[in-house]
Amino acid sequence: MMQMEKLVSLCKRRGYLFQSSEIYGGLNGFWDYGPLGVELKRNVKEAWWQDMVTRHNELAVPPGAPAAFEMVGLDCTIIMHPQVWKCSGHYDLFHDYMVDCKASKRRYRHDQLRGRWVEAKGKRIFVTTLAEADSEHEDAQRRALKFFDMRGKDAGQLTWDAKFQSLSSVTDLSQVLAPEANELGTLTEPREFNLMFKTYVGALSGEEGAAFLRPETAQGIFVNFKNVLDSTRVGIPFGVAQVGKSFRNEITPRNFTFRSREFEQMEIEFFCHPNQSRQWYEYWRQRRLKWYTQLGLDGQRLRLREHAQDELSHYSCGTADIEYAFPFLPEGEYGELEGIAHRGDFDLRSHMEGKLDPRKRPLELEVDENGQPKWRGSGKDLTYRDEQTNERFTPHVIEPSAGADRATLAFLCEAYDEDEAPDDSGKMQSRVVLRLNPRIAPVKAAVFPLVKKDGMPEVAKEIYGALKQKFNVFYDEKAAVGRRYRRQDEAGTPYCITVDGQSLQDKTVTIRDRDTLQQSRVKIDDVVHEIEQRINSCGYNKHQ
Ligand code: GAP
Repeated sequence: MMQMEKLVSLCKRRGYLFQSSEIYGGLNGFWDYGPLGVELKRNVKEAWWQDMVTRHNELAVPPGAPAAFEMVGLDCTIIMHPQVWKCSGHYDLFHDYMVDCKASKRRYRHDQLRGRWVEAKGKRIFVTTLAEADSEHEDAQRRALKFFDMRGKDAGQLTWDAKFQSLSSVTDLSQVLAPEANELGTLTEPREFNLMFKTYVGALSGEEGAAFLRPETAQGIFVNFKNVLDSTRVGIPFGVAQVGKSFRNEITPRNFTFRSREFEQMEIEFFCHPNQSRQWYEYWRQRRLKWYTQLGLDGQRLRLREHAQDELSHYSCGTADIEYAFPFLPEGEYGELEGIAHRGDFDLRSHMEGKLDPRKRPLELEVDENGQPKWRGSGKDLTYRDEQTNERFTPHVIEPSAGADRATLAFLCEAYDEDEAPDDSGKMQSRVVLRLNPRIAPVKAAVFPLVKKDGMPEVAKEIYGALKQKFNVFYDEKAAVGRRYRRQDEAGTPYCITVDGQSLQDKTVTIRDRDTLQQSRVKIDDVVHEIEQRINSCGYNKHQ
């Protein structure tokens, strides 16, 4: 089994992730977090919130920052006034290109469908496949052989182009064999497809009641800019953070939770003076990259990639992605974990005046079918006046926008490992271990009595009760202790505390470290403090 398949199977087996509505066959693009998964994802979000908001010290200049700054939080609604999405640009510009297959009636995202040119019997075709990177050649070959009416032993007669590539590189769709078709040319020309989920508010069933599920949490922050200024004492520069669900009707959700239709974002809108926005953009790029390495991602598999001009979103005048080499991607490819965008004054200006797209400025107001301006803003003053200089300006925004599910998935991928550990007889046996940073591990410690007698369970339960006041801990007295250790290794629990015969005499227990397998003896009275210290020993990274 490939590493990704093993991880997916572990996630299901140990209660990290389940397919949504599984008993009804599941719903593509939707995932449920199980008992361990919910703790892991909560810990990832909590670490982000603490590091970005509650533990941020507004009195000190952080390393690499141009100045000290304040951070506050918000929690906005998922459904907002529809005009928000007009002015944000999502209503008109938030789309992907899709193609439909006339034979299978299936729909695919134009840039995500991959295929490879192959020639046989004097004919050259582009064979597409839905298979994952590690099996795409196998799948394409099977389909090409079928198409050319050839047998497996004739595979050597197929002449392949060097690489798989995106369907968007193909200009003539009549040469394309769609993933679930048996003849060529069944795909339609690419068409725009808006990714926002539509719904209806209240008893109004027509377009009057139409609304959208938010495709990003960011807009809630922009439309509350004035409220935050008026209700707090923050002044520019400052950041507003939000964690919450977002929804996108992705055409081809795939790669486990990586591309889902319902997911969670952790976003910051950082408001600053236009003259300083470049420096802040630099600062946030480095700060956010460091966050992932500090929580355990390997710097070798992470990279910061600047977007090319033609890749920029409609609002952005500069974006860099933090990307991770997920194991489900082909060798050398990376997937986006977080985008850090320099949004200029686009959003505040759009919500104020209804102007949009910085690339198209100066812009004539577009009108809708009723002659109303399509991009009508709120008309509210969203500028900022500096109390010291009296200067009035529209702040620029730097936006570090992360996905909670993608970060959780990256931490899981990174943590998955296989090695050997001694069993009860001291013989080395293979084990699966999730080397999660203790700070985000779902269960911080497990407590075991070595045997279920001689007063050991009573002592173990007492320790468990004391730890439970502070951490999510687990008690287990079933099976041989070696098996119990292994179950915790697989769940990512960093410490196992065992009460043994010696504990009853000298009031000590052993603490076994998941990664080093070392056991140390600690006084029962010091266990809570010891575990607390180990979890808080900052900078844990299995690669250091
Ligand atoms: N406000 C800016 C914004 O939403 P984005 O690059 O579209 O930017 C930010 O999204 C982050 O949200 C991504 O880097 C990714 O981590 C996460 N994300 C976006 N679409 C997603 C999806 N379909 N499934 C899971 N996470 C997604």
